[in-house]
Amino acid sequence: MKRYNVAVVGVGAVGEEMLRVLRQRNFPINELRVFARSAREIIVDNQKYSVRKIKPEGFQGVDIALFAGTEGEKGAAVTYAPAAVKRGALVIDNGADFRLKKGVPLVVPEVNPQDAKRHKGIIANPNCSTIQLVAACAPIYKAVGIKRMVVSTYQAASGAGRAAVDELIRQSREFLANGAVGEARALPARIAFNVFPQIGSFGEAGYTTEEWKTVRETQKILHDKKIKITSTTARVPVVTGHSQAVYLETARKISAAKARELLRKAKGIKVVDRAKGKGGRTYPQAIDAAGRDEVLVGRLRQDPFVKNGLWLWVAADNLRKGAALNAVQIAELVCAISS
Ligand SMILES: NC(=O)c1ccc[n+]([C@@H]2O[C@H](COP(=O)([O-])OP(=O)(O)OC[C@H]3O[C@@H](n4cnc5c(N)ncnc54)[C@H](OP(=O)(O)O)[C@@H]3O)[C@@H](O)[C@H]2O)c1
Repeated sequence: MKRYNVAVVGVGAVGEEMLRVLRQRNFPINELRVFARSAREIIVDNQKYSVRKIKPEGFQGVDIALFAGTEGEKGAAVTYAPAAVKRGALVIDNGADFRLKKGVPLVVPEVNPQDAKRHKGIIANPNCSTIQLVAACAPIYKAVGIKRMVVSTYQAASGAGRAAVDELIRQSREFLANGAVGEARALPARIAFNVFPQIGSFGEAGYTTEEWKTVRETQKILHDKKIKITSTTARVPVVTGHSQAVYLETARKISAAKARELLRKAKGIKVVDRAKGKGGRTYPQAIDAAGRDEVLVGRLRQDPFVKNGLWLWVAADNLRKGAALNAVQIAELVCAISS
């Protein structure tokens, strides 16, 4: 079996999960290089990793570079991805910098694996909340078409990185001890015992950057600019696991039972949707999604007033399927295509 020289860039919330997923899936690694802004040793699941200070020459001889550094002008991907590609590496990037660029495939392996073939050195991993949305909706889209989606998200603190998780824990302790919390630093508002409707910054038409990611990335992955998508994204005091209330208006009618059956057969999906019976009600919950690979889907029900309206509740681990796992699955897909 061919073995690859792999680089992981960033050892924050996603980078650390990336190291875990690579090991758990027994990815065929010849040499592993781990980069961040500063050199040090880290331990993940009792395994020691030497982190090197990132520099362009560090990518010499790397076959696959999994980027989980920060996004934006001075972020890891914009600064170092071109240098990695120039040295022959395939870059799989977790951030938003390349996702909507022409010629950069945006891939969820269960949904649009064929797009991975058309890369020119960079493949983008979609936003965490887009990945679970598209994974849950694609089987329905492929069967009956979707005209409209209304998506409300309940996103975990870890979606904003390690500093946001530390902030949730620190504020929760402060609140329980003193009934008050210190200033919000990693997030735009208080997260302990609170919910707020802002992820990213405010932009076009009053929507946040995260809300636009849901719209544009979903349209790109499904190759359908006609789907009318609208979204409200909120941060909730959960450590890991994003949840979503998803309302679909399908092009052709589908019953909740039929949609459930389709999803039961879909790759990477676990239907958790029992209303009655032994064990009481079961539905997807963030705490059950955390640490799992599958996207959990439940609460499927038809709108009693709108002809083709269908509700779903979706939960997934934002660090695994929403980031690290999807990126490693893309790497596995490309290795399979090229071998
Ligand atoms: N968290 C999620 O659920 C999620 C989901 C999907 C996508 N993403 C995306 O994944 C990326 C990483 O997110 P995260 O949550 O893991 O963030 P994080 O916890 O803040 O960690 C960021 C990591 O990136 C490193 N880094 C920052 N700037 C760098 C640079 N210029 N060169 C090299 N390394 C650099 C940091 O290095 P030091 O440790 O040395 O400071 C740190 O290890 C972001 O683009 C984010 O948007 C996150």
